[in-house]
Amino acid sequence: MKQLLTPLAACIAATVALAGCAGSSKSSSASSGAAAAAPAAASASTTSGPTRASATLQPKSGTNTAGTVTFQQQPGGVLMSAAITGLPPNTVHGFHVHEKGDCSAPDAMSAGGHFNPTGKPHGQMTMPDHHAGDMNNVTADASGNVRVSMLLPDLTVGTGANSVIGRAVVVHKDPDDYKTQPTGNAGGRIACGVVAAS
Ligand code: CU
Ligand code: ZN
Repeated sequence: MKQLLTPLAACIAATVALAGCAGSSKSSSASSGAAAAAPAAASASTTSGPTRASATLQPKSGTNTAGTVTFQQQPGGVLMSAAITGLPPNTVHGFHVHEKGDCSAPDAMSAGGHFNPTGKPHGQMTMPDHHAGDMNNVTADASGNVRVSMLLPDLTVGTGANSVIGRAVVVHKDPDDYKTQPTGNAGGRIACGVVAAS
């Protein structure tokens, strides 16, 4: 009886574990599939506009810095993910959403100041006072690449005064000190990309 029960118990446990494992892997692949399909589904079922936007960073000010930045609407804000290449190794750079979706100038000054729809002082995004477009500095690895994600509580994707769509993402030459008004003293603009629904 014991010899019969033990394999049976093991079998039940294995079945439960397999079912649990299969269930969770199925639901996680289903949710990533749903995320990939979200723009079409969301635009069909809501009136708040797109839920995803992106910007392609182009080199500015004579650099080779480039990259892609995506913005995904989530319940607590916008999840920003950036992949940036062509930075000097092991360097720190100011990184903001700027108010004008215009990267046409060779120095990207056409993008205007930091995106600031609520008229706040410049600061770090974790401080009470900061521009909606203030993001944390990004740090390049030894190969000059950045991969980073941040949840931005003051931005939206889609319609409304705080929407990132039609703005620009700028990478700066120097770190943002999170203090100097209104720029953070982050130096020149070495990459810029206009944010569009995607
Ligand atoms: Cu900036
Ligand atoms: Zn700012």
